[in-house]
Amino acid sequence: MVKRITIDQFGGPEVMKLTEGAEPHPGPGEISIQHEAIGLNFIDTYHRSGLYPLPLPSGIGLEAAGTIVEVGDGVEAMKPGDRVGYCSGPIGAYSEVHAVKADRAIPLPIGISSDTAAASMLKGLTVQYLIRQIYRVKAGETVLFHAAAGGVGLIACQWLKHLGATVIGTVGSDKKAEMAVNAGCDHIIRYDRDDIATRVREITDGGMVPVVFDGVGASTWTASLDSLRKRGLMVSFGNASGPVTDVNLGILASKGSLFVTRPTLFDYTAERADLEAAATDLFDVIGAGAVKIDINAQYPLANAVDAHRDLEARKTTGSTILRP
Ligand SMILES: NC(=O)c1ccc[n+]([C@@H]2O[C@H](COP(=O)([O-])OP(=O)(O)OC[C@H]3O[C@@H](n4cnc5c(N)ncnc54)[C@H](OP(=O)(O)O)[C@@H]3O)[C@@H](O)[C@H]2O)c1
Repeated sequence: MVKRITIDQFGGPEVMKLTEGAEPHPGPGEISIQHEAIGLNFIDTYHRSGLYPLPLPSGIGLEAAGTIVEVGDGVEAMKPGDRVGYCSGPIGAYSEVHAVKADRAIPLPIGISSDTAAASMLKGLTVQYLIRQIYRVKAGETVLFHAAAGGVGLIACQWLKHLGATVIGTVGSDKKAEMAVNAGCDHIIRYDRDDIATRVREITDGGMVPVVFDGVGASTWTASLDSLRKRGLMVSFGNASGPVTDVNLGILASKGSLFVTRPTLFDYTAERADLEAAATDLFDVIGAGAVKIDINAQYPLANAVDAHRDLEARKTTGSTILRP
């Protein structure tokens, strides 16, 4: 029997229940994985709340790492005992054992532990496509990255620094400010008390930034647009404070012929070759020591409710894992 977290209704953290069921066996093209670590991601809260609706009842979670137990028909490239990680589901990673498509799993290089993989794949591959694909950040450029001490944020600060960029990061507390600076943030904006665009204007001597990476959503949308220079790019990639809705496109004209994109990791890694290339890029910067993965909290799988409460209450920093 295998323990997993399931939901049969949308709602607050309390709708997640620990249940027990039969061990999953892989179908054709699939592998089953004994999880050693499970990644906690903000998207899990959107699935749980119904902001991103799932067919119910459902498992939850998209990311984990561990050891292959069984391989299904047609899987040639992997075998039981291999160490792998994945971050694009199928939904149900909050479990002891999960079956996933083999072509969505990435073999873990020596030196990348299951903890590091589960703490970094979804967040780190996101950073990869944000700063290496959507907008290839160059040395000497100044960029704005919101929630700089979060899971995605701490990886982004380090990677941007490694590229030679000047990083302006927003954070909601003194402790988070210190963490973001340690990760390479050059300028901190306390967006709980300072006006973001005014501070960006001061920091850049009026030049503003060519790109904003915004995973906070509703509460930072307007300030992010106001922080861009003419023809700048707004990358709105998340909804931590709520989704951005009802946008009048004319705002892009009035604020300086701006561009906007609302991307998802899953579209940037849909092809196996793209997933592998991004994972190689991520594991290379981790392996080289340029990006360190901070696992600042761990919860037993059975306490997923507490993990969601803390993530949504802005109590977490860096990456968090669930331990099966
Ligand atoms: N589109 C994609 O492909 C993709 C992929 C991965 C992640 N994401 C998005 O990236 C963002 C970061 O994800 P993560 O898993 O690394 O989470 P996280 O950054 O560790 O946690 C979210 C952070 O957002 C900040 N925040 C600001 N307003 C908030 C509010 N009202 N409620 C809660 N938090 C608020 C908090 O930091 P402060 O206290 O410092 O404000 C909080 O710690 C999320 O929006 C996520 O959905 C998108």
